[in-house]
Amino acid sequence: MKKDRKVVLVGTGFVGMSMAYSFLTSGGVDELVLIDVDKEKALGETMDLQHGLPFARNKIVIKTGGYEECSDAEIVVITAGTAQRPGQSRLDMTAVNANIMKGITENIMASGFDGILVVASNPVDLMTYVAWHVSGLPKNRVIGSGTILDTARLRYLMSEYLGISTNNIHAYIMGEHGDSSFVPWTHAYVGSKCLLELLDEKSKDLNDLNEIYHQVQQAAYEIINRKKSTYYGIGLALNRLVQTILNDEHAILTVSAYQEGEYGWHDMFIGVPAIIGHNGVEEIIKLPLNEVDQGKFDHSASTLKEVQESTIK
Ligand code: LAC
Repeated sequence: MKKDRKVVLVGTGFVGMSMAYSFLTSGGVDELVLIDVDKEKALGETMDLQHGLPFARNKIVIKTGGYEECSDAEIVVITAGTAQRPGQSRLDMTAVNANIMKGITENIMASGFDGILVVASNPVDLMTYVAWHVSGLPKNRVIGSGTILDTARLRYLMSEYLGISTNNIHAYIMGEHGDSSFVPWTHAYVGSKCLLELLDEKSKDLNDLNEIYHQVQQAAYEIINRKKSTYYGIGLALNRLVQTILNDEHAILTVSAYQEGEYGWHDMFIGVPAIIGHNGVEEIIKLPLNEVDQGKFDHSASTLKEVQESTIK
């Protein structure tokens, strides 16, 4: 019997703990269990969070434990894995992290877990595929953080460029959470106005959009070069995904979702806009991509598929 609003986190590194910390400020989670191969680290993080509970938005039972804690969890979030080093691409971590992901997923499933698996470990599209393949869970209940953070970066940069709230910037990053992602600009809106029409009216240079995308694509490298890793953005993105599931919001997020031909590709996970609710991926939004954008999607998907077939399957 699942416990309402029980979340298990596997991996108490900076990414996982940024998400965990955000639960105390956002509320919405009733029980949080921290699991890490380094049990002392997990206990230390648990104690540190517990001491903040008097300031938390709502009461949360926070504890550390073993994989048996997954048996009645609604959601298990996996952030464990080696971190991206300066100059290293996310795809460079595939082989090492695939082995880690396989072992973790086997341990989770051995508990009898029957909830929703959220994966953030990089390269997230391929790690989500590994988790789905090993878990045997239905495709809608294995979700990668995908390009949720990339889309947030895009919305922030466009907000700064246009001087308009991020709440009114509706644009997606699609494809790999990595170098081959892209923006279908013809599907970008500011409020209910087509972005490209707005730029035309404001006589803004379309090349500015390419620069904005470049900054999104390079964001993680720029941060890693300065502070060794990224974690606040992805931690908050994971919180958003977890809350959307727990609250059955049916909100659209650009998650890494299993493909069954919606964009011409099959048997892989990749970043697409999808409706997210209590059942995980409720529906993938099929955007009519023009020839250029479909070409970008195909490039991104083939990049992932090539690594998937040579390294994982
Ligand atoms: C980043 C990590 C989460 O893009 O891949 O910051």
